[in-house]
Amino acid sequence: MRIPNFKSEEGSVLYKNTVGRVISPRVADVMLSHAISHLTSSTIRRVLDLGCGPGTLCVPIAAQYPRLLVTAVDSSDSMVVLGKEEAVRRGLNNIEFRVMNAGHIDLEPESFDLVLCNLAFPFFPRPFDSMCEVFGVVRPGGTVMFTVPGRHTWEEFFEVVRNVLGDVITMAKPFLSKFTQAEVLPDAMTAAGFEKLEEVRTRLPFHFANGKAVLDFFGELFHLLDYAPGEVRSELTEAIDRGYPEGFTMRYEAVLLSARRPGLRQSPGEVRSLNDSEHVQAN
Ligand SMILES: C[S@@+](CC[C@H](N)C(=O)[O-])C[C@H]1O[C@@H](n2cnc3c(N)ncnc32)[C@H](O)[C@@H]1O
Repeated sequence: MRIPNFKSEEGSVLYKNTVGRVISPRVADVMLSHAISHLTSSTIRRVLDLGCGPGTLCVPIAAQYPRLLVTAVDSSDSMVVLGKEEAVRRGLNNIEFRVMNAGHIDLEPESFDLVLCNLAFPFFPRPFDSMCEVFGVVRPGGTVMFTVPGRHTWEEFFEVVRNVLGDVITMAKPFLSKFTQAEVLPDAMTAAGFEKLEEVRTRLPFHFANGKAVLDFFGELFHLLDYAPGEVRSELTEAIDRGYPEGFTMRYEAVLLSARRPGLRQSPGEVRSLNDSEHVQAN
């Protein structure tokens, strides 16, 4: 079993076709529904999508709210390439993509009204440092929103296959341990100086009709069966079908944390007027 490396070119495409197609857009929708009052507010102009991946969140925002200036950053060149391609395909000119590490955010201080981070925080190597970097680029009174998966989301799947393939839980530890990092999110926000923390948990069950559908998804994602003989695949499919005759439902939980940078909220009249030329087009 190989643990996915979403940063490589292969990993970015893999991500886009698996989690990025099935799971992340639904979590992004949760984020969008909670951010709607901000996105539609006349006081909001500049939005940052941190760890933007292939554009799952930032592209729909830029398309739906052409008035906004969206900056999308990711430490992976290949993810940024995928995001740019999508923005170009949709003819967007209010979005700028940059390759950037969340550990060192090289953007204008206090310039963003809203910072969004969909499912990327658990991957940041130094979460507290990254949160301080985020604090630095949010304007006083601005808002940040992070989504992370609930603690047990992935473990359930590994439980299903453990009996057939042995202790994949152990093999999956490096991947799963990333998600314990999500638990430090509220502390990191408070330590960085954010206030008015709010947490919303949303259940997003993902249903797979049968064992084959489960394997098609997770097998590809985790390269679970790359080296396994054909009979292991059918054994696993049958085990899932036996254990879950109605199909397998992954009880995914999206955890959304929002907070505010202390300070005075600007009135609409005070919003700095940005020249569109300050924003580089996606292409
Ligand atoms: C699970 S994906 C989420 C992508 C996207 N937000 C979405 O909703 O599809 C996590 C993303 O975080 C990015 N990432 C990981 N570490 C990072 C870092 N230190 N700085 C910036 N981005 C990072 C990865 O390259 C990847 O695109």
